Amino acid sequence: MPATIVLGAQWGDEGKGRVVDYFAESADYVVRFQGGNNAGHTIVVGEEKLALSLIPSGILYPECIPVIASGTVIDPKVLLDEMDMATERGLDPSAVKLSSNAHLIMPYHRKLDAAIERYLGKNQIGTTKKGIGPAYTDKYARFGIRVQDLFDEKIFREKVEAALEDKNKILPRVYNTLPMEADAIVDEYLEYAERLAPHVTDTSLLLWNAIQDDKAVLFEGAQGTLLDIDHGTYPFVTSSNPTAGGAVVGTGVGPKAIDDVVGVAKAYISRVGTGPFPTELFDEIGDAMIDLGGEYGTVTGRRRRCGWLDMLALRYAARVNSLTKLFLTKLDILSAFDSIKVAVGYRSPEGKFDEFPAQQSVLYHCEPVYEELPGWGEDITGVRRYDDLPKEARAYIEYVQEASGVDVGWVSVGPERSQLIELS
Ligand code: IMP
Repeated sequence: MPATIVLGAQWGDEGKGRVVDYFAESADYVVRFQGGNNAGHTIVVGEEKLALSLIPSGILYPECIPVIASGTVIDPKVLLDEMDMATERGLDPSAVKLSSNAHLIMPYHRKLDAAIERYLGKNQIGTTKKGIGPAYTDKYARFGIRVQDLFDEKIFREKVEAALEDKNKILPRVYNTLPMEADAIVDEYLEYAERLAPHVTDTSLLLWNAIQDDKAVLFEGAQGTLLDIDHGTYPFVTSSNPTAGGAVVGTGVGPKAIDDVVGVAKAYISRVGTGPFPTELFDEIGDAMIDLGGEYGTVTGRRRRCGWLDMLALRYAARVNSLTKLFLTKLDILSAFDSIKVAVGYRSPEGKFDEFPAQQSVLYHCEPVYEELPGWGEDITGVRRYDDLPKEARAYIEYVQEASGVDVGWVSVGPERSQLIELS
């Protein structure tokens, strides 16, 4: 595993936390490259659950260096609180590295995120309200504030004041909320700066050197392919690039340095927030997926929408990410169903589709065309070898491989670290 990207092949919540945890054991560096604390990774260690939103899962391994690269957006209070939580759990956050180029989520970003959602009413995106979209908006408008700005008080103050000149017109006049004070924000953030200082570095150089030294570097994607700002179901997406290209842009590591791209896909599919979802189920099967799969958001606690696996979407993820392997999670949840459906096409007023449509409107009107596979109807949570799986479960995995064009390398059959099957 010299340089491997692990990313979500669906709409997020594929179980990347446990997958990254699995790979992190043999990684020297684990790197977040996009997003911020909109992500939520729950890692089950023995009896304990550890929920991380910013610090890469590598923190669980003392030899592994967790890196938060330049493509991310950082809420410093959240990062510091997470470091404190890690310390309380007996972990050591002192090795966490933070890019000086990462952008800061400011209090007005959080306020704007909530206000914009409220304002959009029934058209809202269903964001996590963590300020992600407004922080990236400022980044691309070129008046974002970066981690490195925290270390020059004069520049930091000037940037906050300049930002507020703009935001304090928008907040009351457009969104009917109170304006914000520069002094309070500057004082609060300068306190964070002191604690963050030992972690801040040039992470692009750090990773370049690591790759030159043949270290194992794991790039940990947040969210998922279909939430990508460029390649997802826009506008119901996040504001960054969770696809493989995002790992390159968001770290400053060149594309030729990447050896493997592992796509994580649930054996069914889920999404939170609004937006089209062709295979969504509104019946007792969907409810069972939610209940058995514990499909509630790590960050917001929202009930996830669930449905059958969509091969058009998975093939699309394989294509836009150049996936080299698939990691199929939560296969055990499908044990509850007599037969299992898989979407192999869409039928819509615009015609028939056997590839994920480029035109977003199709996704709203289409009817999935399903193929039905027999279920296995038995508990597989104790299985550890591929050959010990019921033949119907093996047939399902083989079907997914064939239809996606990507080999399945691993299957998880439960949330514990050990509940995993490695395919040769
Ligand atoms: P934002 O990233 O908070 O701006 O939210 C934009 C969209 O991405 C919303 O539909 C969110 O529900 C979704 N989203 C953001 N982060 C995650 C995640 O980690 N898992 C699943 N969905 C997410």
